[in-house]
Amino acid sequence: MNLNRTTWVAMILVGAALLSGCERPPIDTVQTGFRGTGMELVYNPRTLEKTESLHQAPAALDPADKSGPRARQVYQNVKVLGDLSVGEFTRVMVSMTQWIAPEQGCGYCHNLQNFADDSMYTKVVARRMTQMTQHLNASWKNHVADTGVTCYTCHRGQAVPNQVWFAPDDSKLAKGMLGQRNGQNEPAGSVGGSSLPKDPFTAYLQKDTPIRQISQTALPQGINSTGSSTQMTEATYGLMMHMSTGLGVNCAFCHNSRNFSDWKQSPPQRVTAYHGIRMVRELNNEFITPLTSTFPRNRLGPKGDVAKVNCATCHQGAYKPLYGEPMAKLYPELQGPAAKLVKTTLADRATK
Ligand code: HEC
Ligand code: HEC
Ligand code: HEC
Ligand code: HEC
Repeated sequence: MNLNRTTWVAMILVGAALLSGCERPPIDTVQTGFRGTGMELVYNPRTLEKTESLHQAPAALDPADKSGPRARQVYQNVKVLGDLSVGEFTRVMVSMTQWIAPEQGCGYCHNLQNFADDSMYTKVVARRMTQMTQHLNASWKNHVADTGVTCYTCHRGQAVPNQVWFAPDDSKLAKGMLGQRNGQNEPAGSVGGSSLPKDPFTAYLQKDTPIRQISQTALPQGINSTGSSTQMTEATYGLMMHMSTGLGVNCAFCHNSRNFSDWKQSPPQRVTAYHGIRMVRELNNEFITPLTSTFPRNRLGPKGDVAKVNCATCHQGAYKPLYGEPMAKLYPELQGPAAKLVKTTLADRATK
């Protein structure tokens, strides 16, 4: 077959366009299982290099003197950190300032005329966030282990963490030339650029919608024995895309792709992730959502909900936040106690 020059040029251009979504080699792969089982993780070394500074923990302040009077005896209005020594208390205040409001300083949370005053919403939120952080370190060891978390794990030197989510404004979804998109069918960053349902968060990281969809029996009863539909399965995949991109890993980090449902064939990370899903639900339902009325309107989303946590809020694209730097160990002030939770379901809350 004789092809003229224009045809060649056209073919090269089409080829280049098709490849433009691919990443340029070299790409690193790390084998994590037996040969031939496809248990490999794929990393782009250039992306890792670019994001390196994001995953560095800041230097910790020197440990404080634990002796002397308690903060509760010296200050007027301490409800959470009262058992600390004055030295430890001050250390936490200075660190919080570096982690949350390094430019604005103490005045981001305090009325500088009266530090005991609770009139700034940021202080009220920070107090609850302190309990949340202590609770994470004390009660969620099956996820955060001894690595633990500090305010910096989510905040990274800014008041609003850069990875949060809101319920999407679905009034916009119904409009447009293509009609009802049903919250999917267009590329969305929340699901790794795929066209899967773009809000995997409300169903799975706030409500406890069942995630597992694969039937465990050969013959279906109804559609199949889990009773799930294509749409429910797509939603599960949407969540899985978020979890993968949130951690910067492939599916094989948590699954053996020849059998996604089988726990025995899955790497141990899948169990950690299982607890992580429950942990994030608790953060959103018990700590963050109840603060909604404390926040000013301009901090709320299109549906009036508060900015919430997902896997990326802590992980920010790393398999462990800050690549597993055990920063929280250096902050015994934030190690506990676990908060007393009033266990309520979403349904209870709606009727209250
Ligand atoms: C991110 C918010 C935040 C920042 C920034 C912050 N604080 Fe605080 N501060 C709090 C919270 C929350 C409490 C109450 C703690 C409690 O109830 O246990 C508090 C309480 C205090 C108290 C006790 C006041 C009293 O009499 O009850 C002092 C003193 C204090 N902070 C000093 C500082 C100083 C100094 C800085 C700057 C270096 C600072 N804080 C920065 C949130 C913050
Ligand atoms: C698990 C993640 C996470 C951790 C850990 C965390 N925060 Fe937050 N924080 C959030 C989210 C999400 C918001 C809501 C963002 C917003 O303000 O709209 C928030 C908001 C805040 C705000 C309000 C900021 C503003 O301008 O509206 C303050 C203050 C704050 N956090 C303080 C703290 C302190 C202090 C700690 C550590 C003791 C802490 N946070 C730990 C996730 C976290
Ligand atoms: C960080 C770990 C993690 C990653 C990465 C991950 N998954 Fe999952 N996956 C899980 C966990 C945990 C569950 C079970 C959730 C539950 O039951 O609460 C699950 C469940 C599933 C299920 C349902 C299994 C069943 O029994 O019905 C499918 C399908 C699935 N994942 C596919 C994927 C795909 C495809 C990817 C890559 C895009 C992926 N997963 C990435 C942890 C992960
Ligand atoms: C509050 C912060 C926080 C949030 C939110 C969070 N994680 Fe984690 N995660 C951690 C910390 C800290 C570790 C490190 C624990 C350790 O060192 O073993 C971790 C570890 C993991 C690991 C184990 C990695 C390994 O190599 O062993 C997996 C898998 C994981 N997280 C998945 C998730 C998923 C999925 C979500 C969302 C559903 C999530 N995480 C949300 C803090 C968080």
